[in-house]
Amino acid sequence: MKDRLIALKNEAISNILDTSNKNELENLRIEYLGRKGKVNKIIKTLKELPVDERREMGGLANEVKNAIQTALEESVKKLHKFQKLESQWIDITAPGIRPPKGHLHLVTQAIEEISDIFEKIGFRRVSYPEIEWDWFAFEGLNMPKNHPARDVWETFFVNGPTSKKYGEMVLTPHTSSGQLREMLAIKKPPIRMINFAKCYRRQLDVTHTPMFYQFEGLCIDKEINITHLKGVTNYFFEKFYGPQRKIRLRPFHFQFTEPSFEVDINCPLCLGKGCKTCKSGWHELGGAGMVHPTVLKNGGINPQYYSGFAFGWGVERTYLMKSDIKIDDTRIYYQNDIRFLEQF
Ligand code: DAH
Repeated sequence: MKDRLIALKNEAISNILDTSNKNELENLRIEYLGRKGKVNKIIKTLKELPVDERREMGGLANEVKNAIQTALEESVKKLHKFQKLESQWIDITAPGIRPPKGHLHLVTQAIEEISDIFEKIGFRRVSYPEIEWDWFAFEGLNMPKNHPARDVWETFFVNGPTSKKYGEMVLTPHTSSGQLREMLAIKKPPIRMINFAKCYRRQLDVTHTPMFYQFEGLCIDKEINITHLKGVTNYFFEKFYGPQRKIRLRPFHFQFTEPSFEVDINCPLCLGKGCKTCKSGWHELGGAGMVHPTVLKNGGINPQYYSGFAFGWGVERTYLMKSDIKIDDTRIYYQNDIRFLEQF
């Protein structure tokens, strides 16, 4: 009887494992565990056995019953799981849903474009600190404490440490601080630097945001003169705007250049006629000039042997002056309006 029971168990379980159909499983359940099923048939013959053997075989018969029962339950569970998976079937050949793809902010794009143009003529791209010492931002650029020229910069001073040598900390109001940093870093000309950095001033209107980007060019070598400044300026504007736009150098005053100029470009909206945005037909892009001998000295460079030119322009403003970009309010750059940003 023992052998019959074990053979029955093996047969039942192997039949159950071979089945992947709910009805067949139910039939197997009836065949083996039903009232008139195979297991019960054997159990009914138990009474013919001697008492000792009967108890032992009774136990074994129960084990066989339980084993078949468990095998049936497992198979039913598996079947459910499989059916569930089938109902969640995915067509892996169907075209996917593309995640939305962003792109670089247009100011970053402008920075890349500008630096590419300057890198072609050997200017090294750098970025100097946004939080700067007074000395680099003012004093070293020939603007001693209390000098009225400082007033133009509407500076944010920082409540931070003060340096004996360099004074207070400021959010850098212009990239010209990078001139001194570059001179002190390179030590010996030739120097050809293009410095991009965030700058901060206390101004907010159609043409100003309190945070903006500037780029500062600096070229120092033997016998550098104004023709080099004009040549590089013209080269840049022609590459950036195309040959049809006009620029002009207007004499100006900066403490750190002598002579100094402001560089203007004709307005892209009215092409020089004068409109609500430009008023005069021209837009000021920023300053330029021949580096002041005092600044060279402060940067550790001997003005008797070396001379240089520098310029500093706003990235946002420079980009706005492109002919195909008709934006009349610079604040839109930083309003994070996706409808605007997506267009670039
Ligand atoms: N730093 C000046 C400003 O922010 C711009 C400037 C003027 C930069 C003359 C220069 C320069 O390099 O030579 O208004």
